[in-house]
Amino acid sequence: MTIICRSYLCRTARSDLLGIEERGALLIGKARRAGSALQQEKFKSAGTWFVLVYVLFATAAVLGMGIEGPKAADTEDEIKRYREMINDPMANPAYLNVDRGEELWKLPRGNKGVSLETCDIGKGPGVLEGAYAELPRYFSDANKVMDLEQRLLWCMETVQQLDTQEILSRKFGTPSATSDMEDLVAYIANKSNGMTFHIPLNDAQEQEAYAIGEALFYRRGSLLDFSCATCHSADGARIRTTQLPNLTKPGKDAQETMGSWPTYRVSQSQMRTMQNRLWDCYRQMRMPPPEYGSAGLTALMIYLARQADGGPINVPSIKR
Ligand code: HEC
Repeated sequence: MTIICRSYLCRTARSDLLGIEERGALLIGKARRAGSALQQEKFKSAGTWFVLVYVLFATAAVLGMGIEGPKAADTEDEIKRYREMINDPMANPAYLNVDRGEELWKLPRGNKGVSLETCDIGKGPGVLEGAYAELPRYFSDANKVMDLEQRLLWCMETVQQLDTQEILSRKFGTPSATSDMEDLVAYIANKSNGMTFHIPLNDAQEQEAYAIGEALFYRRGSLLDFSCATCHSADGARIRTTQLPNLTKPGKDAQETMGSWPTYRVSQSQMRTMQNRLWDCYRQMRMPPPEYGSAGLTALMIYLARQADGGPINVPSIKR
């Protein structure tokens, strides 16, 4: 289980634990100096075991919880430096996804043998510039609010008459199989670079989807009784080197978050989309995730995108 560590709690916890650790180290040092016979006896004694277990526990807790040390500012700087180091577009492998996405967009497929180039992502057939910045949105031809994934699947089915079953079996890429969906999302999202999220919620169905998304965000459940808000409603919270964005309010955190997905995840050696991020957060909550491309996920997406309204898009980014 992941433990959330608010900085002031962490500092208290850490100073307590370090105290124990130091006391433990002192005792062990004394035991060593006291000669082998005595040392053996000491190590056998329940007291020493107690100290040892405490030291182990303290070390594991310090590592496991990613507790902030007293030099929190240094750590922040280091994390920032690390992010800058890996955030080089020329070295970002996710641009391979963008290139594959472009090929897939132009590839004639399906019963109709046509490409996706006439698909309307919201700015008119085939117009990709700025489309991602305004998603999810209401589409009158489908009479529903759709996010990019839903819209792409809809276009595959209607424009191309393409059987999406096989495509859905690769919704998230693996080292051995790329994902058409991830590649297409990377390509299309990249076409909104330099633009800002614009989610005016003018349509009644968009407003309803937003309200559902907000409700889902605060909905607690499953084994841990967590909601998204459990981990994402405090300013400056962090797990290990990972900052937990406060997504309960519009502004900087939500903007930086939403404007940086899709992203190349170094820890997974894969490019990932927001669908994958949400799926993973549900998994962490031990909750069954809403189905891929479902109205539920789109609702959550429109809630998050609205919080990011006005925020710049620069994707694919690169992250831990
Ligand atoms: C147990 C705590 C926890 C819960 C509950 C949780 N998340 Fe997260 N979330 C994380 C962690 C940790 C990360 C950081 C990424 C990583 O390295 O895995 C993250 C990352 C994210 C990100 C991407 C942040 C970024 O800047 O890249 C989004 C968006 C997000 N979560 C949304 C949600 C939503 C929506 C829910 C509810 C469905 C949720 N999270 C529930 C822990 C949680």
